[in-house]
Amino acid sequence: MANQEAMRRAARLRREIAEYDDWYYVKDAPRIPDAEYDKLFRELQDLEANYPELRTPDSPTQRVAGRVLDGFAPVRHAVPMLSIRTETDTAASGAFSFDARVKNTLETVDEIEYNCELKFDGLAINLRYERGVLVQAATRGDGETGEDVTQNIRTIRCIPLHLKDCKAEILEVRGEVYMSRRDFNRYNEKQRAQGLPTLVNPRNGAAGTIRQLDPKLSAQRPLSFFAYGLGEVRGWEPPATHSAILDALQSFGLPVCDERAVVRGAQALADFHQRVAAKRDALPFDIDGVVYKVNSRALQKQLGFVSREPRWAVAHKYPAEEQLTVLRDIEIQVGRTGKLTPVAKLVPVFVGGTTVSNATLHNEDEIRRKDVHIGDTVIVRRAGDVIPEVVGVVLARRPADARPFVMPTACPVCGSHVVREEGEADARCTGGLYCPAQRKQALLHFASRRAMDIEGLGDKLVDQLVDEGIIHSLPDLYRLDVATLAALERMAEKSAQNLVGALEKSKHTTLNRFLFALGIRHVGETTAKDLARHFGKLEAIMDAGIEQLLQVPDVGPVVAQSIVDFFAEAHNKEVVNELRKLGARWEEHEGTADQVLPLTGKTFVLTGTLPTMSRDEAKAKLEALGAKVAGSVSKKTSCVVAGAEAGSKLDRARELNVPVWDEAALLGLLHDSESNRKNASG
Ligand code: IVH
Repeated sequence: MANQEAMRRAARLRREIAEYDDWYYVKDAPRIPDAEYDKLFRELQDLEANYPELRTPDSPTQRVAGRVLDGFAPVRHAVPMLSIRTETDTAASGAFSFDARVKNTLETVDEIEYNCELKFDGLAINLRYERGVLVQAATRGDGETGEDVTQNIRTIRCIPLHLKDCKAEILEVRGEVYMSRRDFNRYNEKQRAQGLPTLVNPRNGAAGTIRQLDPKLSAQRPLSFFAYGLGEVRGWEPPATHSAILDALQSFGLPVCDERAVVRGAQALADFHQRVAAKRDALPFDIDGVVYKVNSRALQKQLGFVSREPRWAVAHKYPAEEQLTVLRDIEIQVGRTGKLTPVAKLVPVFVGGTTVSNATLHNEDEIRRKDVHIGDTVIVRRAGDVIPEVVGVVLARRPADARPFVMPTACPVCGSHVVREEGEADARCTGGLYCPAQRKQALLHFASRRAMDIEGLGDKLVDQLVDEGIIHSLPDLYRLDVATLAALERMAEKSAQNLVGALEKSKHTTLNRFLFALGIRHVGETTAKDLARHFGKLEAIMDAGIEQLLQVPDVGPVVAQSIVDFFAEAHNKEVVNELRKLGARWEEHEGTADQVLPLTGKTFVLTGTLPTMSRDEAKAKLEALGAKVAGSVSKKTSCVVAGAEAGSKLDRARELNVPVWDEAALLGLLHDSESNRKNASG
């Protein structure tokens, strides 16, 4: 039997972990370092292993605890799961006809209050909570009967296993399970790199994951959830409006999308439709429209249903993000690192709000796996700000003269050998900077907004400069003068002057931008920032060995090797030196002139009263290890350490997604850094 103390400890751990999960997965603002979280989690797992009777169904350890199922049991919905009527009309007419129908049925001329939401493109799910504990999750099925997918739903970390302050005897929450674009892209990139099948779109990703019989497999594909309504409710009187119901669900700890608005009248609906359309690409997930709902529950009741659709709600759709078109040809594009990308040349098609005539086919294996032939009718997807891609073919429409694709063995731009290394999915041109295509891409990358930010240096100009032999390497850019530029075709004196001005301005940069601009393989913007923060000086990065590089957060062996290889090339060192000679410069981090300490480049902010240390003490310890301690929180803050009564700085940290630690986490870090330093110097 578990003793009292074990019981109390387990309950406390469950509470703490649920709280941290809420911060991490629902509020998107982690509150403790991952390692600390893992420690708590393991402690709970151990306790439950020793005393199985302590294992409750809402324990966080039970998220992936199911066994492989033979099938999904049917679940009869206590309240049917309905669908909604769809409008595809333009913003104005769709909104006005819905509003007119509502007013007509209610026989009123008064403006109606609506709640506007997004129409998430995923899978509808009913979550059943009994006395606040998640007991069952089911798909919509035919609306009357769905499938029991509880095991897989439990693996979704933003779905609380236990509701906060919810007194309802029974509360069924309805909402959409979806896969974020980031998780979808990451999953596909990982699969692609290993030559494994990819997901067609996030919706299929979500649906396929939920219908996995092995919960371990679902747990590997990250899903999310938004609540948008109620099913059966007992022992709780929901608020009088839909918007207040959503607020209540949010207060129970359920994720509710913030992109919603309470408005009055048809024009406001149309405005919402348009406002969301403008930011559709920038949303972190796919939507296929917006939903308008009459806000008052009393009016909803009065409006009732037609067949199986409520009269009080409508889905107002946007243009589809997938379309069919014909693949006319496949061309090869040579990227900055020599990667050969097969690009689909399409019969132009309107998809996801724009006309698309090129789409990526990623690589040779993927073309083979999807069985794409030139001449096929293909499915094109364009969603978010990622480049359009071919996601599949319609085999039934394959013409007799369709032909398969063959990867060339010589670079179509420079004729160099094409190689495909073992275990790699990508074919590469071996021409390096001899290949004009690679040179052009390297220049464009160097000049791009997030790198050196050279305004006015676009692809047309880069083509001209490279093709006419004016520019051979990155430093040549900074040797351009007004006379040379003005002599180019389609280049006026004024634009030449502007470009020289922009070049001059770009030289004053930051270390991380400069590093990113060099185009070292595997060194993206984030890694460049991490490197700059960690080392503080370019020389330190150029001289660093694998071991030192591995000390940088998120730098693994592949990235470290790539950095070492880059700076081992005399030619690359030469490029760096020349760029600096030509005026590229940045502010060096303070206090790092001759010594790099474990926390060099990190900025901390201390706030509130810490349990054992004074703030001055904490500050002195952090500074002794090379960290900077700042007075206010900004995007550059590495971490905020918060004690009791922390105020606005803590709020600001959450707003900016800056990690927030408590004193225990800080002590752990100080301890680790201190021993690292001793090891390094001893
Ligand atoms: S309300 C009675 N709200 O769209 C009203 N549905 O046909 C029930 N959906 O597959 C639905 N986002 O899963 C509602 N904000 C939202 C939604 C939404 C997506 C899906 C839903 C169902 C379909 C409705």
